[in-house]
Amino acid sequence: MTTTHETTIGLRKAAAAKTRAAALVIGVTKTAKGVQPAPGPSEDVAKAYGRSFAATVKALGVKGEVGDVTKLPGGDAVKADVIAVVGLGDADDDLSLETLRRATGAAVRALSDSATIAVALPADTPERIRAIGEAVLLGGYSFTRYLSADQPKPVEEVVLLTDLARNKSAQEALAIALVVGRAVNTARDWVNTPAGDLDPTRFADDAVALAKGSDVRVSVLDEDQLARQGYGGILGVGQGSDRPPRLVTLSYQPKRKKAKTHLALVGKGITFDSGGLSIKPAAGMMTMKCDMSGAAAVAAAVFAIAELGLPIRVTGYAALAENMPSGKATRPGDVLAMYGGKTVEVLNTDAEGRLVLADAIATASETAPDLIVDVATLTGACVVALGTRISGVMSNDEELLETVPTIAERAGEAMWPLPISAEKAEKVKSSKIADLMQHDVERYGGALFAAAFLREFVGEGIPWAHLDIAGPAFNDGSPWGYTPKGGTGAAVRTLIQLAAERANSTG
Ligand code: BES
Ligand code: MN
Ligand code: ZN
Repeated sequence: MTTTHETTIGLRKAAAAKTRAAALVIGVTKTAKGVQPAPGPSEDVAKAYGRSFAATVKALGVKGEVGDVTKLPGGDAVKADVIAVVGLGDADDDLSLETLRRATGAAVRALSDSATIAVALPADTPERIRAIGEAVLLGGYSFTRYLSADQPKPVEEVVLLTDLARNKSAQEALAIALVVGRAVNTARDWVNTPAGDLDPTRFADDAVALAKGSDVRVSVLDEDQLARQGYGGILGVGQGSDRPPRLVTLSYQPKRKKAKTHLALVGKGITFDSGGLSIKPAAGMMTMKCDMSGAAAVAAAVFAIAELGLPIRVTGYAALAENMPSGKATRPGDVLAMYGGKTVEVLNTDAEGRLVLADAIATASETAPDLIVDVATLTGACVVALGTRISGVMSNDEELLETVPTIAERAGEAMWPLPISAEKAEKVKSSKIADLMQHDVERYGGALFAAAFLREFVGEGIPWAHLDIAGPAFNDGSPWGYTPKGGTGAAVRTLIQLAAERANSTG
């Protein structure tokens, strides 16, 4: 049993119908003859319910669509007060882990007022247990810190009913799920915290505080140190704000064996993006507290990788600044001297993310890591290209461009490759007065231009992938599956999965 927030999550081998709980979650699939209970414990519950189960779910209009939740009174059939029937999609399709996660997340979201929840979904492999475990935490998330009224009590206990309750791999799978789920929720908390409260200093302080009692070493460069070391990008973006920028480095090294591979993670950490002097219209600014989602993902992932004790060296960089207009702000037309010496002509102060990332990517390159991955809510253009549920992947390495989306998929996240065109790469170098041009006046292909710019700061011969999470980082719409409103924790699971797979493949 492990406790998180106030919810205890554990495995139990028990008959679903005889399990005492406020709510019992079962799954149904769509068939030609109407909905059917999913194989396993859901079937047992339907049987205990009796012959009226089929008629009841039909009368209630249960369709079995993934994530649809319908509540039935438990009655005398089961020991739970409520049965939550969740759709698992087509019976003919193999039940994917993502379907299981979405269904679990939707069910837990619908049962936030239940003190205890028993989950009787197919949990017959460690992989499925991990998927359900993660989704319980992700779907159960809510951000209530700023609500003054009495809050409904959080769910006290969730038990996953499984025959594998005493199986070591199943228990390990749940333990991993809890670390991963908590990491995503940590990133969500950071993103959801209003920018008025979360400035670069506070974010850095939070990272330092989290490092206590973990195997992560955190160091922070303040504005004076940044100035002495020539961090023109981070300082140039941060100088319009009264609240100074920070560069936070989070280092983890496995204890037992020296790691064979070194992964560098770089996150965009704009605690608020007003656009600066190239100010955004009101509507575009509304969600811009989310502009530190990349840094939140990187920091949360490094702590999780350390907690999991993965045999890989990881260094995370959170490039933190607040992008504000003021008499001190960088002007369009100004030239910044970036970390490492390259000069950049700033043409639009709202294209600030690439400036802070450039400094951090150049810093990461100095340690010659085996791979650099940066994560950023970088461009609206990427959202235009891929929508709000798919992140863009750009890279200087053909193989990474293919593998990163597949790694993301295994982690339960959607990412898609985009090219860095020669045309954009050329434009980046077309400034008349500086080494590089920061902004392309042509709107089209803005995600590619930004990536072409970043690539200039990657050290010679270092494989690099850039994740543009501008779409998925913040859910402006309704909650769905295990995705809440607000901060989503995008990329956290992919970064952990990437570290785990790299650690494995290099021994
Ligand atoms: N933080 C924004 C990108 C963004 C947009 C994130 C929507 C999340 C949702 C970024 O700093 C930005 O302002 N980008 C500009 C770049 C442009 C000026 C070249 C954009 O996309 O409009
Ligand atoms: Mn911007
Ligand atoms: Zn931004």
